[in-house]
Amino acid sequence: MKKVITYGTFDLFHIGHLNMLKRARTLGDYLVVAVSTDEFNTGKHKQCVYPYSHRARIVEAIRFVDKVIPEKSWEQKVEDIINHSIDIFVIGNDWAGKFDFLKEYCEVVYLPRTKSISTTAIKSTVQNGKSIST
Ligand code: CTP
Repeated sequence: MKKVITYGTFDLFHIGHLNMLKRARTLGDYLVVAVSTDEFNTGKHKQCVYPYSHRARIVEAIRFVDKVIPEKSWEQKVEDIINHSIDIFVIGNDWAGKFDFLKEYCEVVYLPRTKSISTTAIKSTVQNGKSIST
């Protein structure tokens, strides 16, 4: 069985998140998603609309996702890859090259992002009373 892992905040779950999780799952047979905790986000000066418990439960309910674990630090990736017997680390290509050091432990794949959507864009769209275009 091929196991895949990915990491993210997944706040205000959107179509870009769904596309990435679907593509990640098709690379293997089992997908682990590490969702950033509120404490980890605070350390990054990132403020989420939804708390960890909501973000984790939403991601867990996606049918391409087999397991959700908390992402508590930048340094946990090697440990996660070993502990969960991961074959492929996947992340959006906004991170291209940044995780090449993990190639020592598993395959590293950068997936293209879905265009024109992000949590940040949704936040400002809602503030301006507009809609997201398709
Ligand atoms: N992602 C994607 N396409 C998008 C937005 C996100 O493929 N349009 C991917 C990211 O590359 C990452 C995962 O989804 O691998 C989780 O991203 P996250 O940072 O939670 O989402 P963003 O919407 O980019 O959040 P923010 O605007 O807060 O940076």
